[in-house]
Amino acid sequence: MPTDTYVGAIDQGTTGTRFMVFDHSGQVVANAYQKHEQIYPEPGWVEHDPMEIWENTKDVVTTGLTEAGLEPSQLEALGITNQRETTIVWDAQTGKPVHNALVWQDRRTTDRVEEIQEAGKVEWIREKTGLECDAYFSATKTEWILDNADPIKMDRSRTEDIRDRAENGELMMGTIDAWLIYNLTGNHITDVSNASRTMLFNIHDLAWDAELLEEFDVPASMLPEVRPSSDEDYYGYTDADGFLGEAVPVAGALGDQQAAMFGQTCFDEGDAKNTYGTGSFYLMNTGNEAVESDHGLLTTIGFQRSGEPVQYALEGAIFITGAAIEWLEDVDLIDNAAATAEMARSVDSTDGVYLVPAFTGLGAPHWDGRARGTIVGMTRGTRREHIVRATLESIAYQTRDVAEAMEADSGVETTSLRVDGGAVKNNFLCQLQSDIIGTEIVRPEVDETTALGSAYAAGLAVGYWETLDELRDNWQVDREFAVENPDGYDEKYERWAEAVERSKNWATD
Ligand code: G3P
Repeated sequence: MPTDTYVGAIDQGTTGTRFMVFDHSGQVVANAYQKHEQIYPEPGWVEHDPMEIWENTKDVVTTGLTEAGLEPSQLEALGITNQRETTIVWDAQTGKPVHNALVWQDRRTTDRVEEIQEAGKVEWIREKTGLECDAYFSATKTEWILDNADPIKMDRSRTEDIRDRAENGELMMGTIDAWLIYNLTGNHITDVSNASRTMLFNIHDLAWDAELLEEFDVPASMLPEVRPSSDEDYYGYTDADGFLGEAVPVAGALGDQQAAMFGQTCFDEGDAKNTYGTGSFYLMNTGNEAVESDHGLLTTIGFQRSGEPVQYALEGAIFITGAAIEWLEDVDLIDNAAATAEMARSVDSTDGVYLVPAFTGLGAPHWDGRARGTIVGMTRGTRREHIVRATLESIAYQTRDVAEAMEADSGVETTSLRVDGGAVKNNFLCQLQSDIIGTEIVRPEVDETTALGSAYAAGLAVGYWETLDELRDNWQVDREFAVENPDGYDEKYERWAEAVERSKNWATD
């Protein structure tokens, strides 16, 4: 068993970039993090600067290694995990983006999505991709960039039409994993889990779908090669003459929610996890079967190991959970996220207040791009504490929305749910979650399961870990939250459903 070599993981998330290094027992030996700018050019639009993301990636990798006293040569492999769907188009020659990244939360293509819906193509898209036709995914974002990126702004020496350039194979498109793999190795590659979030990938044929490419006018030549999430052929090596000064194999990539599922060792059919980040993403492994949803969930690719069939998952994608706590901070209702537990506990209930954080529309199971954030039930007696508690409850209620859909679709009753992500440090929230869904909540020792999952994918590919059982053995419980109040929330949950209805179809632009 290796003792002084490790596996590194780059976790490029919505708000920042983290680099972690794990040892053979799955423990963290290095950790560095950097935030990046959130760009909001217009209401409902969200962009990131891809160059800033790449610069931050290099910074966190070097800082993480230096602070932990590690040499790059001690890395057996690098894994990548990332905010999914966020779309970048870049120049194949210069490597420069032609536009800022359009972030998964960006709603600017809602009109285009409605046009597709009105044309009756929703089922057609779902059959091929397992996805709901929504602005969330990369297809309409890529189309928008190709229609709107300013060729003059992107490169003053070139003025020809951006679409012509795309057709001529001069541009590349990718999600954040592909952007990082390209910058790290020079190769244009994505993994199956990320490809499955583009709404351009056929999850049954495991190939880019020619009809969808035609629908969204995306030239096939722009797209990355799709490879297993844990790839024994490696995506490539870091440049020995580059920032790391070492040729390290880049051998694993997973969308961050699939990575969390992998890090939680949900390797078997029926295993489920919920991650509480900017949003929350509840995934259940459905094995080699792509289970269709009748209740507003997504059918997506969980992961694939070299030489093995893909494992599918059902997913409840909730757009805003942890970000609602950030919003409380932004509007000065709280000083910091840690204060929320005590404030919520200081009142017995929300006093009839419900907050629906539909800031970027509603995802699963409602799928309403025009829904917006709503607070109902306020009286003259409503205090900050009630709103804070209502925000925490909204996180747990939204999870119940998708948990019920998950049970209905899969026929599997979840008796124990593994949780991870920043917000699960909050014991009050974990207990509330257990009570609201009536299921035991289990928090693992290593709560950075997203980074861990991508390290596992890369480490398995290079033989640092050999079997899934080794990874299962690494998984340890930190704390279990048993249901204490199984009946107390059912009536309130009905009121929550009414509050959700009031948030729907609000935005007019
Ligand atoms: O689908 C969006 C998701 O991948 C974003 O995750 O953790 O960056 O908010 P996170």
